[in-house]
Amino acid sequence: MRIDVVSIFPSYFDGLTLSLLGKAQSTGILDLRIHDLRDWTHDRHRTVDDTPYGGGAGMVMKPEPWGLALDQLAAGADGGPRPTIIFPSPAGEVFHQSTARELADREHLIFGCGRYEGIDERVFEEAAELGEVRLISLGDYVLNGGEVAVMAMVEAIGRLIPGVVGNPESLVEESHEDGLLEYPSYTKPSVWRDREVPPILLSGNHGAIAAWRREQQVERTRRRRPDLLAGED
Ligand code: ADE
Repeated sequence: MRIDVVSIFPSYFDGLTLSLLGKAQSTGILDLRIHDLRDWTHDRHRTVDDTPYGGGAGMVMKPEPWGLALDQLAAGADGGPRPTIIFPSPAGEVFHQSTARELADREHLIFGCGRYEGIDERVFEEAAELGEVRLISLGDYVLNGGEVAVMAMVEAIGRLIPGVVGNPESLVEESHEDGLLEYPSYTKPSVWRDREVPPILLSGNHGAIAAWRREQQVERTRRRRPDLLAGED
């Protein structure tokens, strides 16, 4: 999979060279390219923002650098499928595990990180000529820009690409994969500061352990995230 990220703070993404995603890049499973939006500016100050038409607080990202960046990056996949172009935004659809799964199937994703009061609206119209455009929110709160949201999305998507996570079984048993929160986990020692591991986990009875874990999942979900169970039996 190829992922391009455009940002005015490319060094935010240094962390994506670590751990499993870093390994996926060195083995060639993931082709992740981070770009500085200012490389598509042509003035001495490398300007990316300006005041909003109609007035109001803050600055808006200018369309010209975005247009050039998207033209170049979408064309980079010439002959291939149209890219999916994602703009993180608190005004977008909410990102779920199902969104990550859907996007992990794409061959080419482009993420555009907005800053300030947002990006000139015409950029989204232009982007729609080049690929499928998605505005995606991490949740109902406001970040300073799209970078942190893109880090989260790239990690959630990247770990679903086959070969990125060593043991694919660990993906199946996670929170949200079956609509429930994950069951609690324990490791040695069996007693720590007078706290015991639930005896069932030491029983060796795999059927009983599976049933207990399922109960724990349902109970946790009911307590912490009843919204996930709404409409279920
Ligand atoms: N940019 C600012 N806030 C955001 C959010 N909640 N999700 C995605 N992108 C954002």
